[in-house]
Amino acid sequence: MAQFVSSIIVVWTSLVLSVSAQYLQNEALLQAQATCVEYLGIPEARLAQYNISVYPPDRDTMCMIRCAGIILGFWEDEQGLLIDGAKQLFPDSCDVELVAQKVLHCAERKLLSCDPSDACARAYYSFRCAMRKFELSSSTSSSGQKLTAEKFLRAQYVCANTLRIPQDHLKLYNQGVYPDNTETRCLFRCIGIRLELYSDAMGPNLERLHSEFSVDQPLNEFKSRAGYCFEANRPLILDHCTAAYRNLYLCFREHFNAFTTQNRQTLLSHSPSPQTCLDLQSDLLLYGDDV
Ligand SMILES: *[C@@H]1O[C@H](CO)[C@@H](O)[C@H](O)[C@H]1NC(C)=O
Repeated sequence: MAQFVSSIIVVWTSLVLSVSAQYLQNEALLQAQATCVEYLGIPEARLAQYNISVYPPDRDTMCMIRCAGIILGFWEDEQGLLIDGAKQLFPDSCDVELVAQKVLHCAERKLLSCDPSDACARAYYSFRCAMRKFELSSSTSSSGQKLTAEKFLRAQYVCANTLRIPQDHLKLYNQGVYPDNTETRCLFRCIGIRLELYSDAMGPNLERLHSEFSVDQPLNEFKSRAGYCFEANRPLILDHCTAAYRNLYLCFREHFNAFTTQNRQTLLSHSPSPQTCLDLQSDLLLYGDDV
C-alpha cells in the first residue's frame, strides 16, 4: 500500500514538474531565498531585492546564495558549482551544454581570486557566473525576451541607482507616472537601453515593441503610426534623454500604461531598499567583468 501511494506521488510530482517546469524553477529560487533570509537572520527588506534578481556583493547576500545553492542543489562547499543544479534555474537557455561549459570556465576563473575557505564568496561568484551566462543565452531566445514586470523593475532599479534617483521617486514610477523632467527622461532612456527596447543610434526597437505590446496589429501599421509620432517629435528633441522620453515613452505611452496597469500588483508591492554607491560600483564592475 505504502509503495502504491508513493508511486502515485512520484507520477503526480513528475506531471506537475513537466507541465510548469519554468514556473516551478523560478518559484523554487524565490522560495529558497525567502527561507535563507529567515534562516540567516537577514533583514526582510533585502528579500525584495533578491526577488527581482538584484544580488549586490555583500556578506549577507553571499551567504544567502550559498544557502539557496545548497537547498536547490547548485552548490556544494567541497565540489563547488553543480552545473546540473544551476541549469534547472534557467530552463529557457538555448544551448544548455555550451552555456554550461562557459559557466564552469567563468566560475573557475572567478574562484582563483577567492579565499578557498570562504564558501559564501565562492558560492556567490559561481552563481553570478551562472546567472550572467544563462541569462545572456536565454535573452537571445524568443521566450526569454518577453518583458515581465520583474525585468522592468530590475532595469528601473539599476537605472535609478546609476542615476542616483531618490528611492521615493520610484513610488511614482511604479504607479506608471513618468513626469516630463530631466531626471525622469534620463531614467526612461536608461530603462529602454537596458531592456533593449531602445538605443540612441537606432531609436525605439520597433520589432521588439510590436511583439511585446501590439502583436495583433499588423507590423506595417504599427511602424507607420510610430513614424508619425517620431516626425512630430523631431523639432522637440534636444538631447539623448529627451529623444528617448519622447520617442520611446510618449510615442508608446498607451502601451506602457497598459503594461503598468496589468502588472499593478507586482509593481506596487516592490519598494527596493537603497543600495550604497560602493555596492553599486562593484555591482557594475561585476557585470562588466562577467560578460
Ligand atoms: C519574495 O518572494 C517570496 C516568494 O514568492 C514571497 O514569499 C515574499 O513575500 C517576497 N518578499 C518580498 C519582500 O517581496
